[in-house]
Amino acid sequence: MSQAQSLRHGGNIAQEAKRLGIHENELLDASASIVPFNNSLAIQESITKAIHDIAIRCYPDRNYSDLRESIGHWHDVNPSMVLPGNGAAELITWAARDAAMCGISTLPSPGFADYKRALKCWNSSYLELPLPLSWEAKFPQLFPLQSKSEAIWITNPHNPTGQLWSRESLETLLETYKLVICDEAFLPLVPNGEMQSLIPLIKDNTNLIVIRSLTKVFGIAGLRLGYAIADSKRLSQWQSFRDPWPINGIANAFGSIVMNNHILIKKHFQDIENWIRTEGNWLHSHLKALKGIIAHHSATNFQLIQSDKPLITLHQKMAQQGILLRDCRSFKGLGENWLRISLQTKPNNQRIIREMERILK
Ligand SMILES: Cc1ncc(COP(=O)(O)O)c(C=O)c1O
Repeated sequence: MSQAQSLRHGGNIAQEAKRLGIHENELLDASASIVPFNNSLAIQESITKAIHDIAIRCYPDRNYSDLRESIGHWHDVNPSMVLPGNGAAELITWAARDAAMCGISTLPSPGFADYKRALKCWNSSYLELPLPLSWEAKFPQLFPLQSKSEAIWITNPHNPTGQLWSRESLETLLETYKLVICDEAFLPLVPNGEMQSLIPLIKDNTNLIVIRSLTKVFGIAGLRLGYAIADSKRLSQWQSFRDPWPINGIANAFGSIVMNNHILIKKHFQDIENWIRTEGNWLHSHLKALKGIIAHHSATNFQLIQSDKPLITLHQKMAQQGILLRDCRSFKGLGENWLRISLQTKPNNQRIIREMERILK
């Protein structure tokens, strides 16, 4: 893999471990933004339950009916308006197909690089509109961009800035654009984030696609599971185009079990909210106190830092200590003076700050 490709996404722990000559387990990965604490016993048991003979030996239900029903029930939408995917990434590819059919897409920049990858699959054109690179501490905020294009891609909260956009300010986009794609991959991690979700608007807006990921909240990035919520006709079309069994039997069984257990999910999301509030504030205040660093406010589990000098050496020295931070050179508009740090458990946040203090001294 080229350096440019490996910069495109965090979490390249296999390559980093090889490069550093250590085992993957020895790395503290703060480059990918995944919930770092162990899932509750009940969630771990759901994973164990999902790894059963039938899930491995048989083809999964082609319609993923149980999974769609569990997800639909959780969000209070008809299961026909839910399409599970092999992570949010697969559904981004299909949303890009529809965006390509509409015309040009607007991509707020800096933004998640996968939207460009997906649009390129369909030879689709896009314009990148710069987001202001300083923002307030208070969330939600008004989405600040307007453009002349047919489709627009929103990430709420935004990656990599961590800004939470208000539902009200996004709702008006539905009148302007032929297609609005809203990636809510990190929304379940934001305290009170669901209040800004566009899912309740799906019923009345066939030009809206909401994409969710379960890989971050349940720490199952390797298992892969996400879903889209959109007009049922649009989703049946995607279903008819794609590979027959994109979600493997274990991910299907896990998702069906866990999304059906509302007590379990509510408790898990509450634990995440508490962690974001306490650890998010702790990390932000300690980053702010570091010499030569500006720490930006975030509503979610990653925070951007900026300096007036390149942070590449800091990035490399942290890696030598087994700590991976997110290199921001692949984010258009950011570059080498920026790094993104994913929130960890208390001892690991302390370890990150300790090492940064030592290196920046
Ligand atoms: C904004 C955003 N959306 C979607 C994804 C992909 O999620 P998944 O692992 O479910 O494919 C990511 C992964 O980093 C992301 O940052």
